[in-house]
Amino acid sequence: MSPTSSTSRPAGREELSPAGPSGRGLGVLRRYRHLLPVTDATPLITLGEGDTPLVRSVKLEQEVGCRALYFKLESCNPSGSFKDRGMVVAVAKAVERGDRAVLCASTGNTSASAAAYAAHCGLQAYVIVPYGRIAEGKLAQTCAHGARIIAVDGSFDDALRLAREITQRHPVALVNSINPHRIEGQKTAAFEIVDELGDAPDALCLPVGNAGNITAYWRGFVEYYQREVATRKPRLWGFQSAGAAPLVLGHPVAEPQTVASAIRIGNPASWQAAIAARDESGGDIQAVTDEEILAAYRRLAQEEGIFCEPASAAGVAGLLKRVREGADLSEKTAVCIITGSGLKDPERAMAEFAPELRPVPPDVPTIEREMGLE
Ligand code: F0G
Repeated sequence: MSPTSSTSRPAGREELSPAGPSGRGLGVLRRYRHLLPVTDATPLITLGEGDTPLVRSVKLEQEVGCRALYFKLESCNPSGSFKDRGMVVAVAKAVERGDRAVLCASTGNTSASAAAYAAHCGLQAYVIVPYGRIAEGKLAQTCAHGARIIAVDGSFDDALRLAREITQRHPVALVNSINPHRIEGQKTAAFEIVDELGDAPDALCLPVGNAGNITAYWRGFVEYYQREVATRKPRLWGFQSAGAAPLVLGHPVAEPQTVASAIRIGNPASWQAAIAARDESGGDIQAVTDEEILAAYRRLAQEEGIFCEPASAAGVAGLLKRVREGADLSEKTAVCIITGSGLKDPERAMAEFAPELRPVPPDVPTIEREMGLE
C-alpha cells in the first residue's frame, strides 16, 4: 500500500460514501476530519466506528434522581469497544507514514481493535498481553484478525514497558494511547455527546485504567467549549477498581487485582493528563469495589437491557455509589460511558447469570412445567 495514497482502497476502486442522512457509516475520520490530524495523505479508512447510541436510562435514572441519565454505548463500535475511535486514527497515520506493522500492549480491547484495523489495512499487528488475564472474547477477536500474540508472564504494565522499548528499537508503530493519535480519535466521543444533547452534560462517568479515555474526553469537551459548540464542560467522574486504583491512592500499584480485567492496571500511562482532567473539570477519581462493579453489571443487564463487560460497569457503579453517599444530581444530566460489550467476557457472564442447564424431554407438558404455566 502506498503511504501517499489518499485512501486504503485498491487502485481504481470508486469512492462511495455509505453514509445515510444521519452520517452513520461515515466513520470518525470523515465525520470529524476538520478536528482531527487528517492531511490529504491520510487514508480515510473506516470499519464504521463512532456514531454510537446514547440511550436514556429506564430504571437507574430514578434512583440517581437526576433530570436525565444516558448510557453511551461504545460497545456498539465495530470491535465492541471505544478503542476503535482512536485506533482508526492511529492506524491511518501509520499507513500514511508507510509503517508495515503495529504493536500494542493490552488488557484485550486495544489488541482486538488494533488487530481489526491492521487487518483492514493489510498491516501486521503484534500484541503483548498479560498471560491468563485477558477475557476470552477479546483473545478470540485478536486471533481471528491474524495478530501475532505474545503472552508475557507479567502484568499489563510490564507489557506496556516492553512495547515502548520494542518500538524504540524497531520500525513498528506503537498504537497504545501514548500514541497521540489515539487520544485524538477518542475525543470524538465527547463531540458526539454534545452534538446529540445540544450541550455538554453536567457529569460524565467512566472507568479509568490506563487513563487515555478520560484524557481524551476532556480534550474533546474543552475543544467544543473553545469553539463555542458547547456552553459548558462536564465534571469528569472517573472510577478505578479498588484493587487497581493507583490514581486514587496517588502511587503505582505493583500487583493490581480486579474482576474487571480491562482496567487491571497499576501504573497508568496517562497519569498526569488524567489528574489534570479531573482537576480542571472539577471532577473526581474514586474507587469502586469488585462487588459494586458486579452489582452494576447485573443491574445494567437486567434492569436496562445493557450487556457490558465488567470494567464498563465501573462508571455506573461509581455514579450509584456517589448518589448513595449523598451527591445531589437533581436538575442535572449525567452520561455513563459503556466502554465495552458484555460479549467480550462470556466467562464472567456465565459465572454471574447462567443457571445449571439440564436437558428435558421435548414435549409440551414438560415445557409448560418448566415455564411455570401448569
Ligand atoms: N473500559 C474498557 C472496556 C477497557 O478496555 C479499558 C481499557 C478501559 C475501560 C479503561 O480505559 O485505559 O483509557 O483508562 N483497556 C485497555 C486495553 C487498557 O488494553 O484494552 P483507559
